[in-house]
Amino acid sequence: MSELLNVYTMNEISLNNRVVMAPMTRSRAYNLVPTDSMVTYYRQRATAGLIVSEGSPVSMEGRGQAYTPGIYTDEQIEGWKKVTEAVHRQGGKIFIQLWHVGRSSHIAHQPDGQAPVSSVSRIAEGCTTHIPGDNYQSVRAFHSQPRALTTDEIPRVTQDFVKAAKNAI
Ligand SMILES: Cc1cc2nc3c(=O)[nH]c(=O)nc-3n(C[C@H](O)[C@H](O)[C@H](O)COP(=O)(O)O)c2cc1C
Repeated sequence: MSELLNVYTMNEISLNNRVVMAPMTRSRAYNLVPTDSMVTYYRQRATAGLIVSEGSPVSMEGRGQAYTPGIYTDEQIEGWKKVTEAVHRQGGKIFIQLWHVGRSSHIAHQPDGQAPVSSVSRIAEGCTTHIPGDNYQSVRAFHSQPRALTTDEIPRVTQDFVKAAKNAI
């Protein structure tokens, strides 16, 4: 039998096989919360040894793509629970990919339409993302002008990742 299909023990986590699904943004969230469509999507792929979820914003400020499922509100946690329960029921394992997009964003995604935050205040020239459009169709848009985070703001972003990781667990 192929090694690929053998059990793999990763610290305390035992994977049914060595197939790992890469993180892929699917834009199936509704009001930024995981949906039943996502439950179906991940359940159908749960025979992989390990799934790495689509990028999941750790905060509103970390958002940069339309219809992506966050992991910073209670409602989002409840939505993700349905996904993880479905995967576990099939014997699969799933890790979340925590996401802060930095300057790869648009003011439509940001709290109060503020500038996206980044390590620099230079725009990524010519780069685009998707913003919500009519009838849940996304629309392509150029990145917005970012602002550079100040050093004293960095602990806040770090804490967003800590909280998101705890939420995921
Ligand atoms: C539709 C789609 C969505 C993706 N979304 C993400 C994502 O959310 N996070 C990420 O790190 N990579 C994302 N990727 C990149 C994939 O995880 C992967 O690295 C890429 O497809 C190259 O894989 P390969 O080197 O096996 O060909 C995405 C790729 C595709 C095709």
